[in-house]
Amino acid sequence: MEIPITRSCAHHTWFAILVSFLLFTILLCFDYSTTFDGPAINGATFPVNKPESLSVIMKNKTRNDADPSCTGRYVYIHDLPSRFNHDLLQNCQVLTRGTDKPNMCPYMENWGLGPEIGNNTEGILINGSWYFTNQFLLEVIFHNRMKNYRCLTNDSSLASAIFVPFYAGLDVSRFLWDSNLTVRDSSGFDLVQWLAGKPEWKKMWGRDHFLVSGRIAWDFRRQYDNESYWGSKFRFLPESMNMSMLAVEASSWNNDYAIPYPTSFHPSKGNEILEWQNRIRHQKRPYLFTFTGAPRPELENSIRGKIIDHCRASSVCKFVDCSNGREKCDNPINVIEVFEQAVFCLQPPGDSYTRRSIFDSMLAGCVPVFFHPGTAYSQYLWFLPKNRTKYSVYIPVRDVSEWNVNVEKILMGISEEEVYEMREEVLKLIPMIIYADPRSKLEDFQDAFDVAVQGMIKRIEQVREVIRNGGDAGVGFADENHYKYTFSDN
Ligand SMILES: *[C@@H]1O[C@H](CO)[C@@H](O)[C@H](O)[C@H]1NC(C)=O
Ligand SMILES: *[C@@H]1O[C@H](CO)[C@@H](O)[C@H](O)[C@H]1NC(C)=O
Ligand SMILES: *[C@@H]1O[C@H](CO)[C@@H](O)[C@H](O)[C@H]1NC(C)=O
Ligand SMILES: *[C@@H]1O[C@H](CO)[C@@H](O)[C@H](O)[C@H]1NC(C)=O
Ligand SMILES: *[C@@H]1O[C@H](CO)[C@@H](O)[C@H](O)[C@H]1NC(C)=O
Ligand SMILES: *[C@@H]1O[C@H](CO)[C@@H](O)[C@H](O)[C@H]1NC(C)=O
Ligand SMILES: *[C@@H]1O[C@H](CO)[C@@H](O)[C@H](O)[C@H]1NC(C)=O
Ligand SMILES: *[C@@H]1O[C@H](CO)[C@@H](O)[C@H](O)[C@H]1NC(C)=O
Repeated sequence: MEIPITRSCAHHTWFAILVSFLLFTILLCFDYSTTFDGPAINGATFPVNKPESLSVIMKNKTRNDADPSCTGRYVYIHDLPSRFNHDLLQNCQVLTRGTDKPNMCPYMENWGLGPEIGNNTEGILINGSWYFTNQFLLEVIFHNRMKNYRCLTNDSSLASAIFVPFYAGLDVSRFLWDSNLTVRDSSGFDLVQWLAGKPEWKKMWGRDHFLVSGRIAWDFRRQYDNESYWGSKFRFLPESMNMSMLAVEASSWNNDYAIPYPTSFHPSKGNEILEWQNRIRHQKRPYLFTFTGAPRPELENSIRGKIIDHCRASSVCKFVDCSNGREKCDNPINVIEVFEQAVFCLQPPGDSYTRRSIFDSMLAGCVPVFFHPGTAYSQYLWFLPKNRTKYSVYIPVRDVSEWNVNVEKILMGISEEEVYEMREEVLKLIPMIIYADPRSKLEDFQDAFDVAVQGMIKRIEQVREVIRNGGDAGVGFADENHYKYTFSDN
């Protein structure tokens, strides 16, 4: 059975209006729920083979990175003018994450991880490796990870992919609430002009280029030049349509890919992951389920209100209200403490389909409960198992008018053995949904960065293959008639 909600969206005007309005309304009330999201991967390996580049590497004996295991994995980083990245960090006072303007500057610390939580973690976190991380700094964290990527090359002709370190979300955050569309769109225009003028562009007309956004992809997909529509139109520029974007939430266009929201856990050694997995495996979980978030009274179709009522009425549910005072739910100690105490974590859609909370809860070994396929299943395809019953519970509720489910009863009906297996699966996924400390090299684990780069390179290789065979590189790429999301119910 198919849930047509987003699938049929993008080519209907009503959907654009709805999304624009929805996101606009929602982002005005931006809080913890928007800063939350979740991924998963199926542990797939992405075979890459590109024999022609191997022969090139063998000839260049002096290359210190002529590592055969890098064959087919080289990435070239564009050296962008600093106004597209570093200047934004220098001028952090002007960055926002919503209509309130908390100071974003402290989050720039530690290569974008934010201030260290230190040793005063009240026994809830493990000492070291936890930070006050802001989701929008994902662009910076990713860029810094990339600077340490093992298979970088300065020779773009060797590169399988071209990374564009544009801090797209930080940039657009300055103008999202600006009614002047010229202002909202200007950096995107400038960026694509710069890119299209480079020799690297002509090789594949940008189809080997990718960038990263810590904001949801809809923030760059304004479909009409009307100030009442949300976002910039960066991703609808012709050049941009040839490029891929990794974002914390993808749109339904084929060249957007979802990657995990950053959590606050950034280990620098593999044994920190093992220690953490062991600790949460043995947690006592007094609550059957929890909901942590803010109500959305202004969203008529939001099922959050129902979930909050249900949770409040249940003796086995813990509700943490994030609406009064941002500090409480912004502090990983508070959030993780609750998730460590619950067996299941309810993840209804928030302001958008996804939430950072998905990843925070999984990190705490809490089994996620989803209500809409767009919240995780159709998003984090590279990160979460295809078989969703292995790690999550799905209670499909399209909108509030269909709310006739008894969540407590459904969760009570899941056997202890099933719970155990789901939790073990969630624990196994942890490395792939976190971003390691960019200053370190995590040797024994693949983290979300590694998986994202692999996925991107594999995707670009497929396009290259189509081009090699004389096909149309545009097929299934930025073509709005080819949605990668089926939002299928099975
Ligand atoms: C590798 O060798 C080729 C051919 O000799 C040369 O054109 C290219 O610049 C070399 N690349 C590097 C990074 O040395
Ligand atoms: C945490 O404790 C360790 C060991 O006692 C110490 O080396 C480290 O500096 C402390 N970190 C902070 C942020 O206080
Ligand atoms: C973490 O650091 C605190 C303060 O330095 C210390 O009391 C505690 O024992 C440390 N915990 C672990 C597990 O090292
Ligand atoms: C690329 O060139 C820069 C500047 O010359 C140098 O610092 C860097 O190490 C080079 N990177 C690689 C991967 O060769
Ligand atoms: C929008 O901003 C641009 C650039 O600052 C300016 O030239 C233009 O007049 C503005 N348009 C409106 C309608 O205010
Ligand atoms: C912008 O959209 C609003 C709402 O759809 C509409 O009322 C208004 O006329 C539009 N403005 C322009 C300039 O098209
Ligand atoms: C996008 O790619 C196509 C080839 O697939 C090319 O014809 C087109 O010119 C490219 N667009 C831009 C703006 O470079
Ligand atoms: C999905 O996972 C569940 C739980 O592990 C298992 O019972 C089921 O057979 C799996 N389904 C498929 C199609 O593999």
